[in-house]
Amino acid sequence: MAHTLPDLPYAANALEPHISAETFSFHHGKHHAAYVTKMNAAIEGKPEADLSLQDLVRKAAADGDQGLFNNAAQTWNHTFFWNSMSPNGGGAPTGDLADRIDRDFGSLEGFKNAFADAGATQFGSGWAWLVVKDGKLEVRKTLNAETPLTEEGVVPLLTLDVWEHAYYLDFQNRRPDFISAFLNDLINWEFAAENLAKSGQ
Ligand code: FE2
Repeated sequence: MAHTLPDLPYAANALEPHISAETFSFHHGKHHAAYVTKMNAAIEGKPEADLSLQDLVRKAAADGDQGLFNNAAQTWNHTFFWNSMSPNGGGAPTGDLADRIDRDFGSLEGFKNAFADAGATQFGSGWAWLVVKDGKLEVRKTLNAETPLTEEGVVPLLTLDVWEHAYYLDFQNRRPDFISAFLNDLINWEFAAENLAKSGQ
């Protein structure tokens, strides 16, 4: 069964002025769409076509099938990224997530500093992540298509795409400003809280 490109969870102009509709027209309409198309072409007629997207990402990684992994992981990562942002984003987390941010990073500012550092220091293309592992919140960075999804016991809570294609039209080379906009105005704490609750950790 072929996978489909999911719609954005908000209008393409809903995150302006931080992320423009033009950026989404390329990032979702071209880049994300191309990953889906290439992934589908790679699995057509194979047993892998019956796997869920998450299982496909994990199998491609386990098999060392780099081409399939890149396209499958980028398909999953981008959908996860769209949901990591909201037109009503920013502000502060609440409840259990807020308590655990304070416990594991010292404060919300401590989390933001760790996350911004991960995103800014990911050389070249990649991703910054908030994950939970063994009941503890951690910040991660990954290269290119790599994703914590493939790590045993690690559950991604939210992510930020720091490939240049994510911000160049709106921020040019100013990746730190893009990261600040994400952390202060776009971050979807409700999505992270849902993922934390579902993780059972
Ligand atoms: Fe991207």
